[in-house]
Amino acid sequence: MQASENQNTHYQRIGGEAAVRRLVQRFYQLMDELPESHGIRKLHPADLKTSEGKLFMFLSGWMGGPQLFIEKFGHPRLRQRHLPFAIGAAERDQWMLCMTQALHEVVEDAVLRAELQAALGKVADFMRNQAE
Ligand code: HEM
Repeated sequence: MQASENQNTHYQRIGGEAAVRRLVQRFYQLMDELPESHGIRKLHPADLKTSEGKLFMFLSGWMGGPQLFIEKFGHPRLRQRHLPFAIGAAERDQWMLCMTQALHEVVEDAVLRAELQAALGKVADFMRNQAE
């Protein structure tokens, strides 16, 4: 690690690249398997590998690690990229159900886990584009 790299980022605290990969892998596995998240699973492609790669690249930068998504695709414009999909409170909650479960399985540090859950909850809420 270079001296200039910040060791207090979520990226460092979670355990770097390997841990972010595990989180994303488990997240999509859960989305694929849980009956409760079938609604949002249907919005995704049959093969989740591309989704997994993109979320990994995004979260890497979002957690303070390498900005892989931006390097490859430019500014995330995440809300705009989600506009083709109808996302309301139910979809947000399904996404967070999978993410919360994945966080519980992958992140041992309870403080870090709570921080990530709260921060991702805000991003997921921001993704809503349907009037309830
Ligand atoms: C709130 C509920 C959400 C739903 C229903 C949802 C659904 C989707 C769908 C259907 C796609 C397109 C397929 C794909 O490329 O995987 C997508 C792409 C993506 N989502 Fe979400 N998403 C949600 C929230 C989030 C959140 C909270 C994040 C980040 C923390 C996120 C990050 C991404 C990224 C990085 C992509 C790839 C964008 C691209 O195509 O360039 N999503 N999402």
